[in-house]
Amino acid sequence: MKLFDVYPRYAIAPVRANDVFVYDAEDQAYLDLYGGHAVISIGHQHPQFTAALKAQMEQLMYYSNAVENPLQEELAQRLDSACGMKDYQLFLCSTGAEANENALKLASFHTQKSRVVAFYNSFHGRTSAAVAATDSPKLRAPINTHHKVDFLPFNAPQKLEALLQQGDVAAVIIECIQGVGGLAQPETAFVQQLQQLCLKYDCLLIADEVQSGFGRTGHFFAFQAYGIQPDIISMAKGMGNGFPVGGVLIHPKITPSYGLLGTTFGGNHLACSAVLAVLEVIIAEALMENATAMGDYFFTKMEKFPHLIPKGKGLMLGIDCGTPVAEIRKELLYKHNIFTGGSSNANLLRLLPPLSLKTTHWDQFFSALKNVL
Ligand SMILES: Cc1ncc(COP(=O)(O)O)c(C=O)c1O
Repeated sequence: MKLFDVYPRYAIAPVRANDVFVYDAEDQAYLDLYGGHAVISIGHQHPQFTAALKAQMEQLMYYSNAVENPLQEELAQRLDSACGMKDYQLFLCSTGAEANENALKLASFHTQKSRVVAFYNSFHGRTSAAVAATDSPKLRAPINTHHKVDFLPFNAPQKLEALLQQGDVAAVIIECIQGVGGLAQPETAFVQQLQQLCLKYDCLLIADEVQSGFGRTGHFFAFQAYGIQPDIISMAKGMGNGFPVGGVLIHPKITPSYGLLGTTFGGNHLACSAVLAVLEVIIAEALMENATAMGDYFFTKMEKFPHLIPKGKGLMLGIDCGTPVAEIRKELLYKHNIFTGGSSNANLLRLLPPLSLKTTHWDQFFSALKNVL
């Protein structure tokens, strides 16, 4: 059997990892500034994380949502105090696309409306409604084109209001810092107007925190820098530090209808123990504060490269090189053993390291970058 072709792959097969490094079968170390696509939050193989998973695995890995699961209750409480979204309801699933799919469905159910507004260069996943709200037609099949989605630029409140006035808009979905799209951030005034307009026209505001959540930008959620309170928040990636888990936080005004949302695997015992361990480590090791400090260090180091444009926040970062970065990424990997990411902007090098990154790792990266350039 042949593997279905999905992504182009580098000719490296990691077999083990530790904190911010992955190792191949020859025990060659690679600095992971990609975090497996923003997934590794507390560091690879964090001892507290692996111990929690091992212990849970020996007790009970899985039972379905047809039974009481005290770990889900504990997770809801811990998440509440970690992110401050008091009284929100937690729905657990397994991936980012699934989180957004459910967020959009819930918004449509709650408002009884069917249109969605999304933004240029957005990425919300590859399932039906999520991919329809993703600004990348090449990711859509004809079956995905039945959703009614309008795309707008950031910072255009009049255009947004004109669309909302037409009626039938169930939700506006936004990444407060874009991931795949290349780290664009809307202006604070616009995000606050967006919240007001959603209230005025009775549509829900969905914050997609799949990539930016769980401390990556230095805030628990990226939208928290904007002083808004979304109606629905989607999460995944860093939430499980590599264990596949996603979730949706739902404002208390949105009341569920039994059976509307559901999943076989979401919120299983092993997934809950993974997220609980992630939350514990983020707080005990002050990783959000570290993300802010390491982001500041990055911007200071970038002053030595005036021809390059640094972008992003915390440890959700990018470098606009003004020229395609494919060759730069290859050299960083094959000559300097450093994993980096790309984005839908071919000129942008994307850096999404574990939140445990230290200044010595940045120093290693910048000396390699200088050499490559
Ligand atoms: C902002 C955002 N939303 C949703 C997704 C989809 O997540 P998943 O690949 O887990 O389905 C991604 C993945 O890159 C993402 O960056």
